[in-house]
Parts: sequence; structure tokens; C-alpha cells
Amino acid sequence: MRLTETADSWWKNAVVYCLDIETYFDTDGDGRGDIRGLSQRIDHLAELGVTCLWLMPFYPTPDRDDGYDITDFYDVDPRLGTHGDLVELITLAQDRGMRVIADLVVNHTSDQHPWFQSARASRESPYRDWYVWRDQPPEDATEGIVFPDQETSLWQYDEQAGQYYLHQFYKHQPDLDITNPEVREEIIRVIGFWLQLGISGFRVDAVPFLLDTLGAADPDSLADPHDYLRDLRAFMNRRSGQAVLLGEVNLPYKETREFFGDEDGDELTMCFDFIGMQKMYLSLARQDPAELVKALRERPAPPEEAQWGTFVRNHDELTLDKLTDDERAEVFAAFGPDKDMQLYDRGLRRRLPPMLDNDPARLRMVYSLLFSLPGTPVLFYGEEIGMGENLAMEGRNAVRTPMQWTDSVNGGFSTADAADLAGQVVTGDLSPEHVNVVAQRRDPDSLLNWIKLLIQRYRETPELSWGDCTVLEHESATVLAHRSEYEGGCVVTAHNFASDSATVTLAVAGSGVGVRAVDLLQPGTTEVAEDGTVQLELEPHGSRWLRVVHPGDRYLL
Ligand code: GLC
Repeated sequence: MRLTETADSWWKNAVVYCLDIETYFDTDGDGRGDIRGLSQRIDHLAELGVTCLWLMPFYPTPDRDDGYDITDFYDVDPRLGTHGDLVELITLAQDRGMRVIADLVVNHTSDQHPWFQSARASRESPYRDWYVWRDQPPEDATEGIVFPDQETSLWQYDEQAGQYYLHQFYKHQPDLDITNPEVREEIIRVIGFWLQLGISGFRVDAVPFLLDTLGAADPDSLADPHDYLRDLRAFMNRRSGQAVLLGEVNLPYKETREFFGDEDGDELTMCFDFIGMQKMYLSLARQDPAELVKALRERPAPPEEAQWGTFVRNHDELTLDKLTDDERAEVFAAFGPDKDMQLYDRGLRRRLPPMLDNDPARLRMVYSLLFSLPGTPVLFYGEEIGMGENLAMEGRNAVRTPMQWTDSVNGGFSTADAADLAGQVVTGDLSPEHVNVVAQRRDPDSLLNWIKLLIQRYRETPELSWGDCTVLEHESATVLAHRSEYEGGCVVTAHNFASDSATVTLAVAGSGVGVRAVDLLQPGTTEVAEDGTVQLELEPHGSRWLRVVHPGDRYLL
């Protein structure tokens, strides 16, 4: 195959980095990050090796759900900047070889959106049918509530409208009715608008909710809601062959697979691997990778051009909703035993480092795993330096604290008074004094430099993201080892989940005189035995990546 195929289908081995402009870098001193601030920090991301920036919602918003409650799908929140600032940012990113994708949040609008204001004011409003109304809430109105601490029903009575409206999320987020062709067309226009501005695709919010035609006025107008996703994708491909839809689909594997579309992959380009993520935490809690291995074996292969999005943390609670009650209790006990660390009975409002007692060996192992398992890794800002959470912040905001740039006031995020910041800076052991970008840039042993190394190796090792992955059998119950093969290349990686060292014998692809396995993350070479195996010693929570090299191979190692 052509090497450039990996560049054409860039998302298959991208490094995605999610951030909220509001908490990234403040240049005008109002306590809120801004687009110009992000532009100033673009080289931090370029140096890290990020290839795709995912911007959390930057649209005008009353900010009652951290920007996921939008009042204008076409605009930029003036507190963050302007369209001009955004285009400058995209231009800078492109110059550094980075694409920019944006959150597309079209399951609902804010109740302050002019469409909803008009819809609720009169039954004659052209926007009335853009939302879902009922005279009476259905009997199952309480089923599937997403925020059980805040909401008691999916239907809210609106005095002005004289009817109930559907809201699958907060009551201030009325659901749009996608069985209405006008709504579908408008969403297409929104996509077209941002593509034209230089955006390379979207992280699509809450996809199963968007496609759910619950309570719709005319369900027949969209008999198969997946048709709509296919339409979106086809439209996007016509406008920009390289744009992606990265979908938030937290469902069992079999159902998630349907959102990739048929064998041609005609719906979402990528889906987050929520199951693998949850099983990874269970495996970490048990110091036994068996559950993660099971998930890897069960995970359906995506269509050829599609890819799984893998992640350790995102901006929401660390959801553990797909584990059994007992499994979830195990993870809670290991990583978030206090009630205050838990949220909605299904998740943790913590970041990884404090969950792992900030143990460098375990942190390094988890990120090594993230970059070596098949899929496109997605980082959440601050992970690269091992930021912690601030439990003094409400709910999920605990993990959405300001980026820690320096050890000075407000972590160098802003010159405003601490009380005026968009989020409260982390305090304690993981405060900016101890965890910040500047210090880690200068420390060769920092997490930042480890993650830079992982990204560099991951990007030059297409076997990992493009290849066939085989989980390897061996003698240790605490080690996950897998072999990735692609176009004649073979890479073997091994990760030790336990705090004891371990020895494993692994079958690499290839044997014969002079065949070696060369370490990619540290100096060293291991001889491949005549039977095609290598024996590896792994330190407690150790990780190794090895490339199999035959005499005459011309790898740059
Ligand atoms: C998604 C977002 C979450 C938001 C919700 C409603 O789940 O990740 O942050 O609250 O959608 O838009």
C-alpha cells in the first residue's frame, strides 16, 4: 500500500487532545481562557505531538452545562473570542500540522436559544415543531434520566407553552426533534458552516440520544434514524473528504458497532471505546488485565476506514455504568472510596493521578497502554503533566480546573483574582507548585517527557494503529502483552499491571539467525530465540515496546 494512505485516513493514527478554551490560557485577564490564549500555547501542543485538537463547545451559552447548552450554533462566545480569532487559531494549528475539530451538540439547545424562546411562546411559531411537545408526559417519563441528582423526569411542563417538552439531559436543554426535516437541514447547515471555516470534523455529542426519536411528532418521517447519520456523513464527505465524525456512544459493543454504519463505514468515522476504558479501570483495580483482555477480544473490528477512539479520562465523570454493581464497587473502593469522589452512583469525579496515588510507575504504564492498544488515543488537557482534580468544585467541574502552566499564581493560567477564575485551581499535592508544564519541560524524567516519547514512538509505529492486534498468551497473570503486525512489520508490547516484577515469554512474528527485538522506549535489544519467542523481564508496573528486526531491515531505531 502507499505510505500516504496513513496520511489520507489521518484519524486512524491521530493523537487527539481535548480542551476547554475557557480553562486553558487567559490573555485578557478576565479569569477566563480565550482563543488567543490557546493560540499562544499552540507550540506546547505541537511539541507534545498532538495532531488533532478537539475544542469543547465555544458557542454562546448561558453556561449551565459547561457550554453544552448552546444559544447559537453559528457563533463564538464573545467571552472567548471571535470568528476571526478562531480562524487564526486554525491557521496556526495547520502550520503545526494539527487539525481542529469541534463539539457538535445538536441533540438539544439551551432553553435560552431563540428557537426555543419562539417555540414556547406560540403554537404558531415556525420553531414550535423543532422541539418535542406533549400535553401529558408519557408513563415512562422517568426512564433513562441522565442526571439523576438534578432531574426527576425527561419531560418538563412549560407554563408559557402550555405543554410538556422532552429533555433527555437537564431541563434547561430541550431536545430538538430530528424527525422534523427542517431541523435535519439546519444541522447540515451548521456542519457546512464550520467546515467552511476550516474545522476538520466534529466530536458528536450524545449520538444515541440524538438519534432517539422518543416522543417525536412524526416518527415515520425518519423510520430509521441511522439514515440521518448516513446523510450527515455523506454530506460531510461531499464538502470535505478528510473531515471526521467522532461520536460519543456509550453503549455495549454490539450496539456501538452499528454507529459506524455498514461495512463501508458510512456513519461515524470514530466511536469512543467506553467499554474498553471501563474494563481498563477494573483491571487496574485488580492488578490483573484479564477483563481488559476480554474486552479487547470482544471489541468488534471497525470498518476499514474507521477507528476506535481510546481514552483514559474525558471531561465528564469517569463513567463506570457498563460494569456490574460489584465490579463498580471494586473500582470505587480502589480509586474513589469517598462519597464525595463519586457521582450519579455510576462514576468518579477524579483524574487518574490521584486515583493511582500519583505513583509515577503506574501512571507511565497506563499511558504506555493507551498509546499501544489499537485505536486513536484521545487525551484530556492536563493529562500530559498529571493534573489532579479539585473536589471543591461542583460535580464534574472537579476535573475541569485551569491548566497548570507554571508554579506561580493561578498556575500561570490567568492574572485575575483567584475568585474570578473560570474554575478553581487544584490545591494540595498536585497544585501548580508541584505539577506544571514549565517544570516538566525541563525534567527529563517527567510525565510530560514520557508522554512525548510515547507519542513520538506511536506515530512512527503504524503497526499499532493500522495493524492486526493479537493478544499474546504467556505465563504471567498480571501482564497484558500484544503483538501488532502490519505490512510485514511486527511490534510487541507488554504491560505489567502488578506491583511485583514479572517474566513473560512472548511469541513474536519471525525467527531465524540474527532476528532481534529492539526496545522502543528504552535502550536495549533482546535476542529472539530459535522458536520465535523473546523472554522479557518487566519491572513492577513496567512497560516495554519492542520492534522485531530482521537482518537487512532498515528501520531508523
Ligand atoms: C455529553 C457531554 C456532557 C454533556 C452532555 C449534554 O454527554 O459529554 O458533558 O453534559 O452531553 O450535552
